Amino acid sequence: MTDFTYRNGELHAEDVPLSRIAAEVGTPVYCYSSTGIERQATRFLKAFADQPASIHYAVKANSNLAVIRLLAKLGVGADVVSEGELRRALAAGVPAQKIVFSGVGKSAEEMEFALGRDIFQINVESEPELRLLSAVASRMGKTARIALRVNPDVDARTHAKISTGKKENKFGIEIDRAQEIYRLAADLPGISPQGIAVHIGSQLTRLSPFDLAFQRVAELVRQLRAEGMTVSQLDLGGGIGISYRGEVPPDPVDYAQLVKRVTAGLDVSLAFEPGRYIVGNAGILVSRILYVKQGLSRRFVIQDAAMNDLIRPSLYEAWHEIVPVKEPAAGVSLDAVDIVGPVCETGDTFATERPLSPVESGDLLAILSAGAYGATMSSSYNTRLLAPEVLVRGSVFSVIRPRPSFEELLSQDKIPDWLGQG
Ligand code: LLP
Repeated sequence: MTDFTYRNGELHAEDVPLSRIAAEVGTPVYCYSSTGIERQATRFLKAFADQPASIHYAVKANSNLAVIRLLAKLGVGADVVSEGELRRALAAGVPAQKIVFSGVGKSAEEMEFALGRDIFQINVESEPELRLLSAVASRMGKTARIALRVNPDVDARTHAKISTGKKENKFGIEIDRAQEIYRLAADLPGISPQGIAVHIGSQLTRLSPFDLAFQRVAELVRQLRAEGMTVSQLDLGGGIGISYRGEVPPDPVDYAQLVKRVTAGLDVSLAFEPGRYIVGNAGILVSRILYVKQGLSRRFVIQDAAMNDLIRPSLYEAWHEIVPVKEPAAGVSLDAVDIVGPVCETGDTFATERPLSPVESGDLLAILSAGAYGATMSSSYNTRLLAPEVLVRGSVFSVIRPRPSFEELLSQDKIPDWLGQG
């Protein structure tokens, strides 16, 4: 299934040897397989082929315009959480009618921008947000099509930092108040409530939390209908996990079956917001080893990718498989090493006591499953340049974001006149 395989002793992205990309673009570099992205999106689309469902790719997972465009060409829409992401989706060619605007803290300016583009749906997460949206839409003479994002108080059983559906999380409107707020929405000027949205977390590796959350949402829909409310849309969020370390995440076919069972008889259109599932396994981060240093008790492999390029290990203790680009000889003995970056923080560690075949300075490493929440969460901490991004198609690769220059990076800062010339 993987699009990154060893051929002739070297790891390839589709048909391109990674050493070629490293030589031409430099390291660290993100590398995505277009075939892998398309395959995942197609799997999701196919799983829902017999249900009235639309897919809105969660742009935050990987927001490169080329990636969004690749998906738009398959008919996939976008789920955005900021004006910036909305602009990206539009610039990449996603029709406004396929864009959902999620997020717990939209500003009046962002609402205005979204209403001006007439996007498909705005997911509202609180009463104050609903009232502000009503005011903004009324002022513009527009009607905002909204879904209420509810918080079903369900434990997604994923990492605490990416769990969003418990009552102590900041997201959504508590489900017990949803009826009251939906009624309010129907009464407010400039608002047209069309449904309910829910998203309980990310990297879910089992189906049961979805089941519980969706059942609560289905019950809410029945209650709203009993009151005479119109509910035509159900946005069931994203969250399907991927395999980082042998996890067996839910198959979209089983997920679709669950959805079909829970929503049977509701007569609603469904929307989904997958992010990680589509791009996570289809991307890697390629780095070059700078030094191998024997410490007092540990052996450190110091590579040129750092926590600013991929923050997931530091932030979530996330496990990413790391393999040498040069295929290790069969049966070679493995050393336990710490794989670290050059940033001045102990947290800049990608792996601790990880078995790795013998490597040396100059060798390339591939950090796998870095296609989601990798480049989008990167920064220029330590005044390091953002890693470039490359998209592979068969034997061709294209730089879809070049490495910026130091001049570009430094020119973003301005020294006030009153500090004088250097
Ligand atoms: N919809 C909403 C409203 C979301 O908040 C998210 C993710 C998604 C959809 C997409 O979820 P996915 O299908 O990708 O699980 N940076 C973290 C993940 C944060 C997810 C935030 N919300 C990580 O690297 O694990």
